[in-house]
Amino acid sequence: MKIIVTDPIARQGIEILKASGLEVEEKPGIPPDELVKIIPDYDAIIVRSATKVTKPVIGAGNKLKVIGRAGVGLDNIDLKAAKDKGIKVLNTPAATSISVAELALGFMFAAARHIADATASMRQGKWEKKKLKGTELFGKTLGIIGLGRIGTELAKRADAMGMNVLIVDPYIKKCAVGEIRTLEQMLPKADYISIHVPLGDETYHMVNKAIFNKMKDGVIFVNASRGGIVDEDALYEACKSGKIGVAAIDVYEKEPLKDSPLYTLPNVIGTPHLGAQTKEGQIRAGIGVAEKVRDALLEKN
Ligand code: MLT
Repeated sequence: MKIIVTDPIARQGIEILKASGLEVEEKPGIPPDELVKIIPDYDAIIVRSATKVTKPVIGAGNKLKVIGRAGVGLDNIDLKAAKDKGIKVLNTPAATSISVAELALGFMFAAARHIADATASMRQGKWEKKKLKGTELFGKTLGIIGLGRIGTELAKRADAMGMNVLIVDPYIKKCAVGEIRTLEQMLPKADYISIHVPLGDETYHMVNKAIFNKMKDGVIFVNASRGGIVDEDALYEACKSGKIGVAAIDVYEKEPLKDSPLYTLPNVIGTPHLGAQTKEGQIRAGIGVAEKVRDALLEKN
């Protein structure tokens, strides 16, 4: 049986598949029309977030039995089209939770201590000690929107650091750390807000102008979940006006991001979708997805 891998995954995952006698072809960055042409040859496809497994891809996949996603979000896969054709969609929901939570925490520290600005200033040979005075995270209030695996990891870490953690999640009745609040209750109270919800119809542009307006002035806003959850025009305006003190952004509605006005603003810091991009997280995700796809193809499950 043949598997196409269209985004880079850990070597360990590729080796697991090959060791089971499965044929693996790696075609990272394959153009969408090319993928539609060759997908009929494959029994499974493994992707991360860059490849869009669209209705045309699924429709053309006559032999396709499994779609493997090395990672968490399934927003790049047409789940309805897969379900209609009886194709299994398998992801690795826990593999990269700590990596993403640590990036969100890193953003919070970077914003509080001006790490990006300070580095840029040092590169220019300056010594701006007075200008770059920061704040502590200790004693501040963090609002976490979404208490899934990543939100939970972030809540534990923030709580251990002495932050007051407010959780917003309509699907959660109780939490081990922090206190549950409605969105309306949390927004004006939080010094830091971090989003950890999947992208779907319910969450598309859920953070918009009206939501930014309800936040505390100067809030530090973190998004390491999915770009489409935040209205980027509204984010730009909120940063420009100073409503948002610092926005720390890892994900964008259109990726790769090109020429975004966001990065013309001094109070936006960010990364190119690096949340899950750690050595440890990618090994877990690569091995996890390979084992699941192997078992599904060889009918061990
Ligand atoms: C995820 O959803 O796990 C990540 O966004 C995956 C990735 O970086 O490709």
